[in-house]
Amino acid sequence: MPTPDARMPPSIHRRRLLVAAALSPLAATLGAAAVDRPPAPRAGATADDVMRGIDLSGRNIVVTGCNSGIGFETMRVLAAQGAHVIGTARDAAKGREACGAVRGRATPVVLELSDLGSVVECARRVGELAPRIDALVCNAGIVLGRHEVAGGLERQFAVNHLGHFVLANRLIAQVLAAPQGRVVSLGSGNHRDAPPGGIQFDRLSGEGWHDRGYAHSKLANGLFSLELARRLRGTRATSNCVTPGHTRTNILRSTGSRYAETARTPAQGAAMPCYAAAHPAMAGVNGAYMSDFAPAPQSPAQTDATMAAHLWAVSERLAGDALAPWPAALRD
Ligand SMILES: NC(=O)c1ccc[n+]([C@@H]2O[C@H](COP(=O)([O-])OP(=O)(O)OC[C@H]3O[C@@H](n4cnc5c(N)ncnc54)[C@H](OP(=O)(O)O)[C@@H]3O)[C@@H](O)[C@H]2O)c1
Repeated sequence: MPTPDARMPPSIHRRRLLVAAALSPLAATLGAAAVDRPPAPRAGATADDVMRGIDLSGRNIVVTGCNSGIGFETMRVLAAQGAHVIGTARDAAKGREACGAVRGRATPVVLELSDLGSVVECARRVGELAPRIDALVCNAGIVLGRHEVAGGLERQFAVNHLGHFVLANRLIAQVLAAPQGRVVSLGSGNHRDAPPGGIQFDRLSGEGWHDRGYAHSKLANGLFSLELARRLRGTRATSNCVTPGHTRTNILRSTGSRYAETARTPAQGAAMPCYAAAHPAMAGVNGAYMSDFAPAPQSPAQTDATMAAHLWAVSERLAGDALAPWPAALRD
Protein backbone atom coordinates (compact mmCIF):
# COMPACT_ATOMS: atom_id res chain seq x y z
CA MET A 1 0.00 0.00 0.00
CA PRO A 2 1.46 3.40 -0.92
CA THR A 3 2.61 5.68 1.87
CA PRO A 4 0.26 8.65 2.11
CA ASP A 5 1.86 11.89 0.99
CA ALA A 6 1.63 14.26 3.97
CA ARG A 7 0.78 17.16 1.65
CA MET A 8 -1.79 15.20 -0.29
CA PRO A 9 -5.46 16.12 0.33
CA PRO A 10 -7.43 13.12 1.65
CA SER A 11 -9.51 12.96 -1.56
CA ILE A 12 -6.38 12.44 -3.66
CA HIS A 13 -5.07 9.83 -1.29
CA ARG A 14 -8.41 7.98 -1.38
CA ARG A 15 -8.41 8.02 -5.18
CA ARG A 16 -4.84 6.67 -5.30
CA LEU A 17 -5.79 3.83 -3.01
CA LEU A 18 -8.82 3.02 -5.17
CA VAL A 19 -6.64 2.84 -8.26
CA ALA A 20 -4.04 0.76 -6.44
CA ALA A 21 -6.84 -1.54 -5.30
CA ALA A 22 -8.11 -1.82 -8.88
CA LEU A 23 -4.64 -2.74 -10.08
CA SER A 24 -3.86 -5.24 -7.33
CA PRO A 25 -6.34 -7.97 -8.40
CA LEU A 26 -4.60 -7.90 -11.77
CA ALA A 27 -1.26 -8.53 -10.09
CA ALA A 28 -2.85 -11.28 -8.00
CA THR A 29 -4.38 -13.04 -11.00
CA LEU A 30 -1.06 -12.89 -12.79
CA GLY A 31 0.46 -14.74 -9.85
CA ALA A 32 4.10 -15.67 -10.38
CA ALA A 33 4.02 -14.03 -13.79
CA ALA A 34 3.47 -10.71 -12.03
CA VAL A 35 7.11 -10.82 -10.99
CA ASP A 36 8.06 -10.66 -14.66
CA ARG A 37 5.46 -8.03 -15.49
CA PRO A 38 7.11 -5.06 -17.19
CA PRO A 39 7.25 -1.94 -15.04
CA ALA A 40 4.95 0.97 -15.92
CA PRO A 41 6.38 2.91 -18.84
CA ARG A 42 8.71 5.76 -17.92
CA ALA A 43 7.44 9.35 -17.97
CA GLY A 44 8.11 10.84 -21.38
CA ALA A 45 7.83 7.52 -23.25
CA THR A 46 6.22 7.75 -26.69
CA ALA A 47 2.96 6.06 -27.65
CA ASP A 48 4.94 3.71 -29.92
CA ASP A 49 7.15 2.73 -26.95
CA VAL A 50 4.13 2.06 -24.77
CA MET A 51 2.10 0.05 -27.26
CA ARG A 52 4.94 -1.91 -28.90
CA GLY A 53 4.14 -5.62 -29.14
CA ILE A 54 0.48 -5.24 -28.16
CA ASP A 55 -1.86 -6.77 -30.74
CA LEU A 56 -5.05 -4.73 -31.13
CA SER A 57 -6.48 -6.61 -34.08
CA GLY A 58 -10.25 -7.01 -33.85
CA ARG A 59 -10.66 -3.90 -31.70
CA ASN A 60 -12.72 -0.87 -32.68
CA ILE A 61 -11.48 2.40 -31.20
CA VAL A 62 -13.05 5.84 -31.69
CA VAL A 63 -10.71 8.84 -31.42
CA THR A 64 -12.19 12.34 -31.62
CA GLY A 65 -10.06 15.09 -33.11
CA CYS A 66 -8.01 12.66 -35.21
CA ASN A 67 -6.57 15.21 -37.62
CA SER A 68 -4.19 17.01 -35.29
CA GLY A 69 -1.79 16.77 -32.39
CA ILE A 70 -2.41 14.11 -29.77
CA GLY A 71 -5.49 12.72 -31.53
CA PHE A 72 -3.63 12.05 -34.77
CA GLU A 73 -0.76 10.36 -32.99
CA THR A 74 -3.15 8.29 -30.86
CA MET A 75 -4.97 7.13 -33.99
CA ARG A 76 -1.72 6.43 -35.84
CA VAL A 77 -0.28 4.23 -33.10
CA LEU A 78 -3.49 2.32 -32.30
CA ALA A 79 -4.11 1.61 -36.01
CA ALA A 80 -0.48 0.50 -36.45
CA GLN A 81 -1.04 -2.04 -33.66
CA GLY A 82 -4.01 -3.50 -35.55
CA ALA A 83 -7.08 -1.65 -34.23
CA HIS A 84 -9.76 -0.34 -36.55
CA VAL A 85 -9.73 3.34 -35.58
CA ILE A 86 -12.73 5.50 -36.33
CA GLY A 87 -11.27 8.97 -36.38
CA THR A 88 -13.47 12.03 -36.15
CA ALA A 89 -12.72 15.45 -37.59
CA ARG A 90 -14.99 18.44 -38.00
CA ASP A 91 -13.81 18.90 -41.56
CA ALA A 92 -14.46 15.89 -43.85
CA ALA A 93 -11.39 16.52 -46.03
CA LYS A 94 -9.10 16.82 -42.98
CA GLY A 95 -10.52 13.58 -41.59
CA ARG A 96 -9.95 11.73 -44.87
CA GLU A 97 -6.42 13.06 -45.14
CA ALA A 98 -5.54 12.10 -41.57
CA CYS A 99 -7.00 8.59 -41.85
CA GLY A 100 -5.26 8.14 -45.20
CA ALA A 101 -1.92 9.03 -43.64
CA VAL A 102 -1.82 6.15 -41.14
CA ARG A 103 -0.72 2.57 -41.63
CA GLY A 104 -3.55 0.15 -40.82
CA ARG A 105 -7.31 0.66 -40.81
CA ALA A 106 -8.67 4.12 -40.05
CA THR A 107 -12.12 5.39 -41.06
CA PRO A 108 -13.02 9.07 -40.98
CA VAL A 109 -16.33 10.35 -39.62
CA VAL A 110 -17.39 14.00 -39.42
CA LEU A 111 -17.99 15.44 -35.95
CA GLU A 112 -18.54 19.05 -34.97
CA LEU A 113 -18.81 18.96 -31.19
CA SER A 114 -20.48 22.34 -30.82
CA ASP A 115 -23.42 21.12 -32.94
CA LEU A 116 -25.37 18.39 -31.15
CA GLY A 117 -27.07 17.40 -34.41
CA SER A 118 -23.61 16.62 -35.78
CA VAL A 119 -22.81 14.61 -32.63
CA VAL A 120 -25.97 12.52 -33.05
CA GLU A 121 -25.22 11.92 -36.74
CA CYS A 122 -21.61 10.98 -35.93
CA ALA A 123 -22.80 8.44 -33.35
CA ARG A 124 -25.25 6.96 -35.85
CA ARG A 125 -22.46 6.54 -38.41
CA VAL A 126 -20.09 5.06 -35.81
CA GLY A 127 -22.86 2.61 -34.86
CA GLU A 128 -23.00 1.42 -38.47
CA LEU A 129 -19.24 0.95 -38.57
CA ALA A 130 -18.79 -0.68 -35.15
CA PRO A 131 -21.53 -2.50 -33.24
CA ARG A 132 -18.95 -2.92 -30.46
CA ILE A 133 -16.56 -0.20 -29.29
CA ASP A 134 -13.49 -1.25 -27.34
CA ALA A 135 -12.49 2.32 -26.56
CA LEU A 136 -13.91 5.79 -27.01
CA VAL A 137 -11.16 8.39 -26.69
CA CYS A 138 -12.73 11.81 -26.06
CA ASN A 139 -9.73 13.79 -27.23
CA ALA A 140 -10.87 16.74 -29.36
CA GLY A 141 -10.63 20.08 -27.65
CA ILE A 142 -10.04 23.79 -27.94
CA VAL A 143 -8.33 26.54 -25.99
CA LEU A 144 -9.74 30.00 -26.66
CA GLY A 145 -8.04 33.32 -26.09
CA ARG A 146 -11.30 35.26 -25.89
CA HIS A 147 -14.87 34.87 -24.77
CA GLU A 148 -17.02 32.94 -27.25
CA VAL A 149 -20.47 31.48 -26.77
CA ALA A 150 -22.07 28.50 -28.54
CA GLY A 151 -25.75 27.75 -28.00
CA GLY A 152 -25.76 29.96 -24.89
CA LEU A 153 -22.78 28.13 -23.34
CA GLU A 154 -19.17 29.23 -22.98
CA ARG A 155 -17.68 27.59 -26.10
CA GLN A 156 -14.92 25.53 -24.45
CA PHE A 157 -17.51 24.00 -22.10
CA ALA A 158 -19.80 23.29 -25.09
CA VAL A 159 -17.08 21.69 -27.24
CA ASN A 160 -14.77 20.03 -24.74
CA HIS A 161 -17.49 18.80 -22.36
CA LEU A 162 -21.08 18.83 -23.65
CA GLY A 163 -20.37 17.49 -27.15
CA HIS A 164 -18.43 14.56 -25.69
CA PHE A 165 -21.12 14.03 -23.04
CA VAL A 166 -23.67 13.46 -25.81
CA LEU A 167 -21.29 11.33 -27.90
CA ALA A 168 -20.57 9.07 -24.93
CA ASN A 169 -24.27 8.81 -24.13
CA ARG A 170 -25.03 7.79 -27.71
CA LEU A 171 -22.21 5.22 -27.86
CA ILE A 172 -22.34 3.75 -24.35
CA ALA A 173 -24.37 0.70 -25.44
CA GLN A 174 -21.61 -0.23 -27.92
CA VAL A 175 -18.94 0.34 -25.25
CA LEU A 176 -20.84 -1.99 -22.92
CA ALA A 177 -21.03 -4.59 -25.69
CA ALA A 178 -17.21 -4.85 -25.87
CA PRO A 179 -15.34 -7.41 -23.74
CA GLN A 180 -13.80 -4.54 -21.74
CA GLY A 181 -14.96 -1.25 -23.21
CA ARG A 182 -13.17 1.90 -22.10
CA VAL A 183 -14.11 5.56 -22.17
CA VAL A 184 -11.03 7.77 -21.96
CA SER A 185 -11.40 11.51 -21.36
CA LEU A 186 -8.54 13.92 -22.02
CA GLY A 187 -8.15 16.05 -18.93
CA SER A 188 -5.48 18.51 -17.88
CA GLY A 189 -3.56 19.53 -14.80
CA ASN A 190 -4.94 22.93 -15.72
CA HIS A 191 -8.28 21.87 -14.16
CA ARG A 192 -6.88 23.31 -10.93
CA ASP A 193 -7.28 26.82 -12.39
CA ALA A 194 -11.05 26.46 -12.75
CA PRO A 195 -13.06 29.29 -11.19
CA PRO A 196 -13.44 29.14 -7.39
CA GLY A 197 -16.37 26.87 -6.58
CA GLY A 198 -15.78 24.71 -9.65
CA ILE A 199 -18.43 24.35 -12.36
CA GLN A 200 -20.30 27.63 -12.80
CA PHE A 201 -23.78 26.15 -12.94
CA ASP A 202 -25.56 29.51 -12.61
CA ARG A 203 -23.72 31.25 -15.45
CA LEU A 204 -22.57 28.68 -17.96
CA SER A 205 -22.37 31.38 -20.65
CA GLY A 206 -18.96 32.30 -19.21
CA GLU A 207 -19.81 35.82 -18.04
CA GLY A 208 -17.31 36.75 -15.36
CA TRP A 209 -15.05 33.72 -15.67
CA HIS A 210 -14.33 33.13 -19.37
CA ASP A 211 -10.60 33.73 -18.80
CA ARG A 212 -10.68 30.45 -16.85
CA GLY A 213 -12.87 28.75 -19.43
CA TYR A 214 -10.37 26.12 -20.58
CA ALA A 215 -9.64 25.05 -16.99
CA HIS A 216 -13.40 25.01 -16.32
CA SER A 217 -13.96 22.73 -19.34
CA LYS A 218 -11.15 20.37 -18.28
CA LEU A 219 -12.62 20.19 -14.78
CA ALA A 220 -15.90 19.24 -16.48
CA ASN A 221 -14.07 16.47 -18.39
CA GLY A 222 -12.65 15.13 -15.12
CA LEU A 223 -16.03 15.24 -13.35
CA PHE A 224 -17.77 13.60 -16.30
CA SER A 225 -15.23 10.79 -16.22
CA LEU A 226 -15.68 10.35 -12.47
CA GLU A 227 -19.49 10.16 -12.62
CA LEU A 228 -19.39 7.83 -15.62
CA ALA A 229 -17.02 5.56 -13.67
CA ARG A 230 -19.56 5.45 -10.83
CA ARG A 231 -22.32 4.53 -13.26
CA LEU A 232 -20.19 1.80 -14.87
CA ARG A 233 -19.33 0.08 -11.60
CA GLY A 234 -20.35 -3.57 -11.75
CA THR A 235 -20.01 -3.70 -15.55
CA ARG A 236 -17.01 -4.72 -17.68
CA ALA A 237 -16.64 -1.16 -18.95
CA THR A 238 -14.45 1.55 -17.43
CA SER A 239 -14.03 5.32 -17.50
CA ASN A 240 -10.76 7.11 -16.82
CA CYS A 241 -9.43 10.62 -17.28
CA VAL A 242 -5.85 11.14 -18.43
CA THR A 243 -3.60 14.09 -19.01
CA PRO A 244 -0.99 13.95 -21.75
CA GLY A 245 1.36 16.50 -20.19
CA HIS A 246 2.23 19.83 -21.78
CA THR A 247 2.49 18.96 -25.48
CA ARG A 248 3.37 21.03 -28.53
CA THR A 249 0.32 20.72 -30.81
CA ASN A 250 -2.05 23.15 -32.53
CA ILE A 251 -4.12 23.82 -29.42
CA LEU A 252 -2.72 27.25 -28.55
CA ARG A 253 -3.12 28.61 -32.07
CA SER A 254 -5.88 31.11 -31.24
CA THR A 255 -4.40 32.32 -27.96
CA GLY A 256 -1.04 33.91 -28.78
CA SER A 257 0.47 31.80 -25.94
CA ARG A 258 3.67 29.86 -26.45
CA TYR A 259 4.69 26.33 -25.54
CA ALA A 260 7.32 25.91 -22.86
CA GLU A 261 10.76 24.80 -24.01
CA THR A 262 10.12 21.56 -22.14
CA ALA A 263 6.87 20.80 -24.02
CA ARG A 264 6.48 17.21 -25.16
CA THR A 265 6.14 15.98 -28.71
CA PRO A 266 2.72 14.64 -29.82
CA ALA A 267 4.38 11.19 -29.87
CA GLN A 268 4.91 11.56 -26.11
CA GLY A 269 1.56 13.28 -25.49
CA ALA A 270 -0.30 10.38 -27.10
CA ALA A 271 1.30 7.79 -24.82
CA MET A 272 -1.13 8.21 -21.92
CA PRO A 273 -4.34 8.13 -24.02
CA CYS A 274 -3.08 5.04 -25.88
CA TYR A 275 -2.17 3.36 -22.59
CA ALA A 276 -5.60 4.08 -21.06
CA ALA A 277 -7.46 3.07 -24.22
CA ALA A 278 -5.73 -0.18 -25.03
CA HIS A 279 -2.92 -1.32 -22.72
CA PRO A 280 -3.64 -4.58 -20.84
CA ALA A 281 -2.34 -2.98 -17.60
CA MET A 282 -5.41 -0.70 -17.59
CA ALA A 283 -7.96 -3.54 -17.78
CA GLY A 284 -10.46 -3.06 -14.97
CA VAL A 285 -9.02 0.28 -13.80
CA ASN A 286 -12.04 2.55 -13.34
CA GLY A 287 -12.39 6.10 -12.04
CA ALA A 288 -8.73 7.08 -12.20
CA TYR A 289 -7.19 10.42 -13.07
CA MET A 290 -3.70 9.73 -14.41
CA SER A 291 -0.63 11.24 -15.92
CA ASP A 292 2.64 9.51 -16.77
CA PHE A 293 1.03 6.08 -16.21
CA ALA A 294 0.19 6.72 -12.56
CA PRO A 295 -2.55 8.38 -10.51
CA ALA A 296 -2.02 12.15 -10.50
CA PRO A 297 -2.85 14.87 -7.98
CA GLN A 298 -6.09 16.69 -8.60
CA SER A 299 -8.05 19.52 -7.05
CA PRO A 300 -10.74 18.86 -4.44
CA ALA A 301 -13.31 20.05 -7.03
CA GLN A 302 -12.33 17.28 -9.46
CA THR A 303 -12.91 14.60 -6.83
CA ASP A 304 -16.24 16.09 -5.71
CA ALA A 305 -18.76 13.32 -6.42
CA THR A 306 -21.70 15.62 -5.66
CA MET A 307 -20.50 18.19 -8.20
CA ALA A 308 -19.94 15.38 -10.70
CA ALA A 309 -23.50 14.08 -10.28
CA HIS A 310 -24.90 17.61 -10.55
CA LEU A 311 -22.90 18.28 -13.71
CA TRP A 312 -24.32 15.08 -15.18
CA ALA A 313 -27.91 16.15 -14.40
CA VAL A 314 -27.36 19.67 -15.77
CA SER A 315 -25.68 18.28 -18.90
CA GLU A 316 -28.69 16.02 -19.47
CA ARG A 317 -30.96 19.06 -19.33
CA LEU A 318 -28.71 21.03 -21.68
CA ALA A 319 -28.48 18.17 -24.18
CA GLY A 320 -32.24 17.49 -24.17
CA ASP A 321 -33.42 15.56 -27.21
CA ALA A 322 -29.89 14.89 -28.41
CA LEU A 323 -29.60 12.17 -25.75
CA ALA A 324 -30.57 8.54 -26.17
CA PRO A 325 -32.27 6.83 -23.21
CA TRP A 326 -29.64 5.83 -20.64
CA PRO A 327 -29.27 2.01 -20.49
CA ALA A 328 -31.48 0.65 -17.73
CA ALA A 329 -28.73 -1.73 -16.61
CA LEU A 330 -26.52 1.20 -15.54
CA ARG A 331 -26.86 3.14 -12.28
CA ASP A 332 -28.25 6.65 -12.46
N1 LIG B 1 -1.42 19.99 -25.83
C1 LIG B 1 -1.39 20.00 -24.51
O1 LIG B 1 -0.43 20.48 -23.88
C2 LIG B 1 -2.52 19.39 -23.73
C3 LIG B 1 -2.39 19.30 -22.33
C4 LIG B 1 -3.44 18.76 -21.59
C5 LIG B 1 -4.57 18.28 -22.26
N2 LIG B 1 -4.66 18.39 -23.61
C6 LIG B 1 -5.88 17.90 -24.25
O2 LIG B 1 -5.54 17.05 -25.33
C7 LIG B 1 -6.59 17.07 -26.29
C8 LIG B 1 -6.03 17.17 -27.68
O3 LIG B 1 -5.44 18.43 -27.83
P1 LIG B 1 -4.20 18.75 -28.78
O4 LIG B 1 -3.20 19.39 -27.92
O5 LIG B 1 -3.83 17.57 -29.59
O6 LIG B 1 -4.85 19.91 -29.70
P2 LIG B 1 -4.96 20.14 -31.26
O7 LIG B 1 -3.70 19.78 -31.97
O8 LIG B 1 -5.45 21.54 -31.42
O9 LIG B 1 -6.10 19.11 -31.70
C9 LIG B 1 -7.42 19.31 -31.27
C10 LIG B 1 -8.38 18.49 -32.12
O10 LIG B 1 -9.72 18.78 -31.68
C11 LIG B 1 -10.48 19.16 -32.83
N3 LIG B 1 -11.56 20.09 -32.53
C12 LIG B 1 -11.45 21.37 -32.12
N4 LIG B 1 -12.67 21.93 -32.02
C13 LIG B 1 -13.56 20.98 -32.38
C14 LIG B 1 -14.97 20.98 -32.52
N5 LIG B 1 -15.74 22.07 -32.28
N6 LIG B 1 -15.58 19.83 -32.91
C15 LIG B 1 -14.85 18.75 -33.20
N7 LIG B 1 -13.51 18.68 -33.12
C16 LIG B 1 -12.86 19.81 -32.72
C17 LIG B 1 -9.46 19.81 -33.76
O11 LIG B 1 -9.97 19.94 -35.06
P3 LIG B 1 -9.46 21.15 -36.03
O12 LIG B 1 -8.07 20.78 -36.44
O13 LIG B 1 -10.44 21.16 -37.15
O14 LIG B 1 -9.49 22.40 -35.22
C18 LIG B 1 -8.31 18.84 -33.61
O15 LIG B 1 -8.55 17.70 -34.39
C19 LIG B 1 -7.53 18.22 -25.88
O16 LIG B 1 -8.66 17.69 -25.23
C20 LIG B 1 -6.69 19.01 -24.90
O17 LIG B 1 -7.48 19.70 -23.95
C21 LIG B 1 -3.66 18.93 -24.37
